[in-house]
Amino acid sequence: MIYDPYPYFKLETKDLHYIFRVLPTGQLEHLYFGKKLIDQNFEVLHQKITAGAGSQIEYERNGHKTLLDLTPLEYSGIGKGDFRLSPIEIKMPDGTYVSDFIYHHHEIQQGVIESKSLPVAKPHEDVTSLIITMIDEICHVEMDLIYTSFVDSNTITRRVVLRNIDTRPLIIKKMMSMMLDLDSKDYDLYTFDGGWIKEAHKHKRSLSYGTYIIESTTGASSNRHNPGIILAKHDTKEDQGVCIGINLVYSGNHYEAVHISNHDMLRVMNGINPHCFEWELKENEVFETPEAVLSYTDQGFNQLSKHFHDFVNQHITPRQFSHVARPVVLNSWEAFYFNFNQSKLIKLAKQAIELGVELFVLDDGWFGHRDDDTSSLGDYTINKRKLPFGLSHLSKRIHNMGLKFGLWFEPEMINPKSELYKNHPEYAVSIPGRTPSLGRNQLVLDLCQSDVVSYIKKQLKSIIDTVEIDYIKWDMNRHITDMYSRSLRHQGMFFHQYILNLYDILLDIQRSYPHVLIETCSSGGNRFDLGMLSFGAQVWTSDDTDPIERLKIQEGLSYLYPLSTISAHVSLAPHAQTLRDTPLSTRFNVASFGVLGYELNFDYLSPAEKGEIKKQIAFYKAHRDVFQYGQFKRHEKEDDHHITWQVKHDQTCIVAQYQTLANASPAFEKLEVKDIDMDQLYRVENVNQRLPLKRFGHLISHALPIKLNTNGFIMRQIGKYKMLDNAKIDEVASGRILHQGLKLKQQFMGTYYNDQTRIIGDFGSMMYVIKPVSGGDVS
Ligand code: GLA
Repeated sequence: MIYDPYPYFKLETKDLHYIFRVLPTGQLEHLYFGKKLIDQNFEVLHQKITAGAGSQIEYERNGHKTLLDLTPLEYSGIGKGDFRLSPIEIKMPDGTYVSDFIYHHHEIQQGVIESKSLPVAKPHEDVTSLIITMIDEICHVEMDLIYTSFVDSNTITRRVVLRNIDTRPLIIKKMMSMMLDLDSKDYDLYTFDGGWIKEAHKHKRSLSYGTYIIESTTGASSNRHNPGIILAKHDTKEDQGVCIGINLVYSGNHYEAVHISNHDMLRVMNGINPHCFEWELKENEVFETPEAVLSYTDQGFNQLSKHFHDFVNQHITPRQFSHVARPVVLNSWEAFYFNFNQSKLIKLAKQAIELGVELFVLDDGWFGHRDDDTSSLGDYTINKRKLPFGLSHLSKRIHNMGLKFGLWFEPEMINPKSELYKNHPEYAVSIPGRTPSLGRNQLVLDLCQSDVVSYIKKQLKSIIDTVEIDYIKWDMNRHITDMYSRSLRHQGMFFHQYILNLYDILLDIQRSYPHVLIETCSSGGNRFDLGMLSFGAQVWTSDDTDPIERLKIQEGLSYLYPLSTISAHVSLAPHAQTLRDTPLSTRFNVASFGVLGYELNFDYLSPAEKGEIKKQIAFYKAHRDVFQYGQFKRHEKEDDHHITWQVKHDQTCIVAQYQTLANASPAFEKLEVKDIDMDQLYRVENVNQRLPLKRFGHLISHALPIKLNTNGFIMRQIGKYKMLDNAKIDEVASGRILHQGLKLKQQFMGTYYNDQTRIIGDFGSMMYVIKPVSGGDVS
């Protein structure tokens, strides 16, 4: 809802108000962003400037005066007295950098305001939008500040549209999607940073005077810094305290800045990175920024995550997949890498369906002469040596088995060793006269060229039209260098135009094949952002499938993105990325908090392990709603080695406890459950996970009736078929007890083992299912 008792504007969501007003001088003063107010008189929120301060500049218009540098603003310009970090830098039609946008008129509309060039949040509910048109009267430039309030998810989106109505051109060097001024500097900044195979680790930075910048410059939103950030008061924890989350619906170079002014005011902004950016607007041309997403809570990070999760599930992911059960995947990559043929794939698919898998994904290596990563990107001919009967035939065989079929593409890339490069070297991004730098032996296709866009669309369609495909993995495996396009009038347009044309291709594919589920990927989580999620409902989170690493990666992402977007696979151990040997149970217990898949060659598993996987998949399917769409909560960590996650849907709650390092003689532990009805009885059961004999090493000899070499042939043979049960937990307790913590059976303590002892050890974990006992309301 949006109210406009001029000069005030109030945006309202279920729990929040966002309020600003038009100053007598014409700028917009930001007044409030927080829990709903009962106040009717907003004068109380004005910045009470009663006397100028020292070296401040006085802004005057129509007989009114203000000190812009001391006023919280909705959006600012340059050169009129606000010396804080500016959200814009525009070379105006008069050739100066001075801009002075003042209120002209506004309009309130039902629904969202569609963007002509970029994805924006979609209205699955009644939403209202506000357009405030600001104008620079001297230079004839108009700026629309667009606000939409999403009531149920407690989020507000903002973006900016600039129109040049002057006869002279202007040049945009920086234009943020939004700016927010807070009247306190007492916040910490939380960011989600990393690199390949260590994406989205949470970092906390304390703030002081000056400017802090988070950005990407690789051409993608990047695994270095996610565009989503959080500002939180110092005492904020998972379930208490004030925090403001900010994200961006954009997949290219992004920029977030926090500036603390000499008067202890905090300004935060986000948008397209001004790095190498320059955009000319001629008369009547328009520039649209990506959409920024904001939310607030005073109930801690988990509540903020809930707002973002609801927002993404309802308004970002493609409508046909929102709240739709996502299939359990088997992906061929870590099973075979490039080394497969039709019979290997069919064998793998047969094993997969026996275990309960629903979607078989053929990853890289099915086209051209691609036997390694040195060739064939850009070519769409089927590799007949590996697939002599073609893809269509393979897809039919897979479908006939009862599986869905998915295919990997890397549409934005070209190898110099390819037919496409032979015929169209000019399609690759490179600067005439300079040797372009390679990444993973490949170059980037110049998406700024319309011929390239048409080529990609045509080639993709030639495959999708002839092969029955239910799912696409859309990969992008290198950063962009040597930025130049022959088709651009300014090279400063390169990065943004690339993304605009990428969205154009994705939109075309999405519209042409709405039933095809797209999972986006960029060497794992190099493009985990709301822009890509507008086209692909889920993202390959990281090439790192080690569950101990995934705890950090998936947890970081969970602050901003729902579990339905986090694609997570169980792979073999020791892990291809870390050499860490982890139990199969932990691999599942982490991967199930997301969209579950398997990425391994079943031939390397014992019959007992395959039996475990069959049970895992059946359990996941039985609780799929909980894992994919339940409300996820992180428990406050007592130490770095004990992590607890919980997810709840309807009345079912699943809690997983992970132990990354065992303590000798550990303290007694409890199972705490959040967000539970205190006066209801619940049944608590642990998921039956069995342990391989080898996990006990030589200790197993104590439990054996006869003496056997624990590393010998006989024990290894037994180990293939036999696993040991872990302690069984099956208790009934009230929500109140669970809230305080249910006392758990002892962990293995070094002296004694029986089947009541919980065996966890390093990298161990246990998952508990909590369901109400029918008729168990004890109130
Ligand atoms: C990237 C992806 C992997 C796999 C390979 C194939 O690294 O992240 O999952 O698809 O490419 O080359």
